[in-house]
Amino acid sequence: MIDLHIHILPGIDDGAQSPEDALEMARIAADSGVRAMAATSHGDFSHCDPEEYLNLYDRRLMEFRRLLEEHKIPVNVYSGMELMVNRSFLRLAEQRPLPGIGGGRYLLVEFLFDTSGSLALERLKRLQRLGYQLILAHPERYEFAKRDPERLKEFYREGILLQVNRGSILGQLGRGAARTADWLLSMGLAGLVASDAHDPVLRTSDLEETARILDLYYGGKRVGNSAREKSCQNPEVRRKYKQHLASILVILREI
Ligand SMILES: [Fe+2]
Repeated sequence: MIDLHIHILPGIDDGAQSPEDALEMARIAADSGVRAMAATSHGDFSHCDPEEYLNLYDRRLMEFRRLLEEHKIPVNVYSGMELMVNRSFLRLAEQRPLPGIGGGRYLLVEFLFDTSGSLALERLKRLQRLGYQLILAHPERYEFAKRDPERLKEFYREGILLQVNRGSILGQLGRGAARTADWLLSMGLAGLVASDAHDPVLRTSDLEETARILDLYYGGKRVGNSAREKSCQNPEVRRKYKQHLASILVILREI
């Protein structure tokens, strides 16, 4: 498995708070079957100097890769960032290249949870016009999506990959997020599932149980087939969606 959303770099955001915690998160991930991950620390450039922060990120990533090697933990760690899309971020996007997954054109993006669906979509379209492919982090956690999950179909149709969180599937992030995650997965609209792990104890990097749930309930064995029929997906959109996933693996050289 590949985990494209995890706050594993120590001392940079609200994720791992020490190298020991980060190593433990990597061990847990590896034991659960994860062989590669993108270290997606938060990137909110509205209250820091972007260049300074990006340099700090690069240093932390190199240090962490060395640490993993030293401790012989078999996980490849790629660069990436969970980018907070707001006005200052859009300004930055027009001035400099943005830190995509593995250094490529795929950006993991998020909003404040109470952002309206129309503002979110409008901002993502602006980023697409700059040539980026987008992965929306945990769509099931946004207020507009919990109220009306159907709104997420517009994002899907625009080719934005929707990434569901492990914690939402397991019911750890509230009833609304759990219900919306279930809807996305049943409809076949979720392109990715990731841990969004922040620590080795509560929001962990263990994807084993999550993978089992996906196989059991959404893999076509039980509800998958009928749900997919109901979702009225345009095969062309579905094909593009799959191509995006394949492109990410190529960027990461993980095929
Ligand atoms: Fe996150």
